[in-house]
Amino acid sequence: MGNDFVEFIQNIKKLCGIDLALYKEAQMKRRLISLYEKKGLSSFQQYFRYIKEEPQGLEEFLDRMTINVSEFYRNAKRWDVLDQKILPRLVSRNGVLKVWSAACSTGDEPYTLAMLLSKHLQADRYHILASDIDEAVLNQARLGRYHERSMKELPLYLKEKHFTQNGDYYAIHENLKKNILFKKQNLLSDSFDTGYDLIVCRNVMIYFTEEAKDMLYRKFSASMKPGGVLFVGSTEQIFNAAQYGFENEDTFFYKKI
Ligand SMILES: C[S@@+](CC[C@H](N)C(=O)[O-])C[C@H]1O[C@@H](n2cnc3c(N)ncnc32)[C@H](O)[C@@H]1O
Repeated sequence: MGNDFVEFIQNIKKLCGIDLALYKEAQMKRRLISLYEKKGLSSFQQYFRYIKEEPQGLEEFLDRMTINVSEFYRNAKRWDVLDQKILPRLVSRNGVLKVWSAACSTGDEPYTLAMLLSKHLQADRYHILASDIDEAVLNQARLGRYHERSMKELPLYLKEKHFTQNGDYYAIHENLKKNILFKKQNLLSDSFDTGYDLIVCRNVMIYFTEEAKDMLYRKFSASMKPGGVLFVGSTEQIFNAAQYGFENEDTFFYKKI
């Protein structure tokens, strides 16, 4: 690692608590260098000064660190498995379902969850925490306005039921928002709540180092109820799941033993 980048990592950690050393280095460096070069800067040192001094600097950095792109019902077959296999089992246990969409980006994922949960349960029988490190995407999520392109995989009956079209965007119905709490949270440094029946964490672990993933799987496992499920992204298989107290319930679904 070049000294310039090492120092940048230390400075960012001091500035906002984000530890870039827990993200895959080559990928992270490439993304940030291309961002600062576009601004006419030529080192991480200059880039840090920019982040500190320009009002939009930190927001741009957060935006660029990882990709924010999300979609409703992303990888549709997996959501069908959630709907038809996993949720019926979780619902058959008594009580209120406690669900977490971790790294939820613009909200497409927690709203997809709410749509499916509302098929199986009354509104007062589930709660969703939706968290992300980036306040800007959380604000978009709270607003709940989407373009058609993020709904390519969403089954038509869900689109018709939960949105109202308004010109060139679709507004999510207010009743779905009521069960979702959007909250800023850093998965790599903040503590987690406990007692989850379902944790959905997709398309963010690909950015993390092996060490960071190991820590995260342990924390997820500790925050779940026995029989609860961790649903990961379609490139994010956990190879040694048993080590974390998980068994495979279906592809990309891990059940806490
Ligand atoms: C590609 S999006 C995934 C969105 C959604 N889960 C999905 O699969 O469609 C990755 C998200 O991870 C968030 N993120 C990156 N590092 C994070 C961290 N340490 N803690 C929480 N969220 C983080 C980013 O802000 C971004 O919104």
